Amino acid sequence: MKEIIEVRREGREPSRIAVGDVIGELHEWLPEGRRVIVITDANVHRRYMDIINGFDHIIIGMGETNKTLMTMEKIYRELIEMDADRGCFILGFGGGIVTDIAGFAASTYMRGLRFGFVASTLLAQVDASVGGKNGVNMDGYKNMVGTFNQPDFVLCDTSLLKTLPEREFCAGLAEIIKAGIIADPELFALFEDNTLEEIHDDHSLLTRAITGAVSVKADIVERDEREAGERKLLNLGHTFGHAVEKSTSNFLHGEAVAIGLAMASDLSVRLGIMGADDAARIKNVVERMGLPLDSGVDNKRLVKVMRHDKKRETDDIHMVLPVAVGKCEVRRIPIVELEKLY
Ligand SMILES: NC(=O)c1ccc[n+]([C@@H]2O[C@H](COP(=O)([O-])OP(=O)(O)OC[C@H]3O[C@@H](n4cnc5c(N)ncnc54)[C@H](O)[C@@H]3O)[C@@H](O)[C@H]2O)c1
Ligand SMILES: [Zn+2]
Repeated sequence: MKEIIEVRREGREPSRIAVGDVIGELHEWLPEGRRVIVITDANVHRRYMDIINGFDHIIIGMGETNKTLMTMEKIYRELIEMDADRGCFILGFGGGIVTDIAGFAASTYMRGLRFGFVASTLLAQVDASVGGKNGVNMDGYKNMVGTFNQPDFVLCDTSLLKTLPEREFCAGLAEIIKAGIIADPELFALFEDNTLEEIHDDHSLLTRAITGAVSVKADIVERDEREAGERKLLNLGHTFGHAVEKSTSNFLHGEAVAIGLAMASDLSVRLGIMGADDAARIKNVVERMGLPLDSGVDNKRLVKVMRHDKKRETDDIHMVLPVAVGKCEVRRIPIVELEKLY
């Protein structure tokens, strides 16, 4: 089983995302006659060395603390030592950290090489590898330096997810639930109609869920690649989510997003934007998929963190709020209003 989703790119052939049984076709996706250099992390290399060792490869350190310009320098140096030239093709093979870094390295080394991804975490398959945002963190601020540049292809093979720890798998589901709430009620219903185990073990259900989330993101990115407007919708759950991530290290990104989805739903109800029944459906699905609803961090503290967004004091915050399951809108909310509410 295989699904292919195309994302139009200006002046170039579309970026193609293949979901399902696709890793066996890797060589057919790679451009003929080009030297391929894989960028991966130690964990992914250990598990998939039978594939990766067939290419020249660069191994980066694991975890968000390695998503830095220092890692970029290390990659550039290794590329120079390998005599990599503009004809090389970069293949990022890993989770979202690897794809963010590999995409940035490929976009900047010698002013840009062609590149593609094998996305090996659920989060990377449904979110990080799609849409062309890449980059690194700076002084603890996330994704401060980077480019918009879409890969030629992304392979999302569901069999790679078998080695993923369950907690990482559930964290990826949060971004699929998010996509359903933004624009696809049927995708959302898949989580009401099936259990976590069924989704985890059933290859065709999982392919459907991944394809659904990728399609929601691809549609939005096609219309607004550089986040002038509509692409902001993809930040549903992320304003509260980022505040949670900044306040405690107890949660994976997807878990923080799940908490953010619950908080955004509650806020929508309080502001009279969404009915309580839809908020209850959202929270039910979050819980069913083994994800947290509550951070344990005081809401007042979260709002304070939101005020100090990206090095600036903000008075208003652009917040994505659900109107119903399958429809969201961006609202500008004064921080003082949030302070009063909480
Ligand atoms: N560019 C975007 O649009 C975008 C969107 C969302 C998230 N992101 C970024 O993605 C990053 C998080 O991605 P992530 O959650 O995939 O983290 P990650 O890349 O750190 O992967 C999580 C862990 O799983 C391991 N792993 C990867 N594939 C595996 C497999 N198949 N089996 C077993 N273990 C495996 C990794 O080695 C790592 O330890 C963040 O830096 C975030 O900013 C980017
Ligand atoms: Zn996210």
